[in-house]
Amino acid sequence: MAEKPTVALGIDIGGSGIKGAPVDLLTGEFLEDRYKIATPEPSTPEAMAEVVGLIAKKFLRSLPEDAPIGVTIPGLVKRGVVRSAANIDKSWKGFDGESLFSQTLGRHVHLVNDADAAGVAELRYGAAKGKDGLVILTTLGTGIGIGLLYDGVLIPNAELGHIELNGHDAETRAAASAKEREGLSYAEWATDRLQPYYAFLEFLLSPDLFVVGGGVSRKADKFLPLLRLETPIIPATMRNAAGIVGAAALAAD
Ligand code: BGC
Repeated sequence: MAEKPTVALGIDIGGSGIKGAPVDLLTGEFLEDRYKIATPEPSTPEAMAEVVGLIAKKFLRSLPEDAPIGVTIPGLVKRGVVRSAANIDKSWKGFDGESLFSQTLGRHVHLVNDADAAGVAELRYGAAKGKDGLVILTTLGTGIGIGLLYDGVLIPNAELGHIELNGHDAETRAAASAKEREGLSYAEWATDRLQPYYAFLEFLLSPDLFVVGGGVSRKADKFLPLLRLETPIIPATMRNAAGIVGAAALAAD
């Protein structure tokens, strides 16, 4: 059996930026400073591939030739094909992103959902390190991303950010973007939006741990203590490295 790689390149595609770094898979740390380029507008597959190419080019020279490459996308991904495009250009829907990125870089690229990557990063290196049972990572950003892990195994593409909450797609009410858009205070957002959302997830899945990521998790002390749940709920610790690190880790699996 081939030895498991110890280094991989991770690239994380987000709504505002595309960022990448080489990752030490033993520690989950960056081997070089990350490189970030603004997400092109419109965020079509071709435009994104160009940026992914630029980022990869910066690092690939200093990496082993067989270093795996993982890329995230904020949509569900089945065998390399992006199946949903809630917050990216609609032309992604049904598009084989893995093939396009692989062609662009001239080597195999593994494409994964952004929250799946973040969940794996938190479980292997971050807030949920070593936790067994059902761990649910939720990223609160433009949308709500979900990383579902059972006994350390990722159950990919759990789109539970889109469950129906009071007649609405949950992420349109409970994501961090809804807080911003509607000018809600942390207390209003926590009580009116996050509480029913997490309580419903808890009822549906009986998790052992919730981990809360996304930029807003930096302010977790302002809203997590207001939630009344049976399940422990803690902030993510990998911050904005989670997508890059998880993409690299999944590509190496
Ligand atoms: C998408 C998910 C994604 C999440 C976070 C949602 O709108 O449907 O696939 O993980 O946003 O980016």
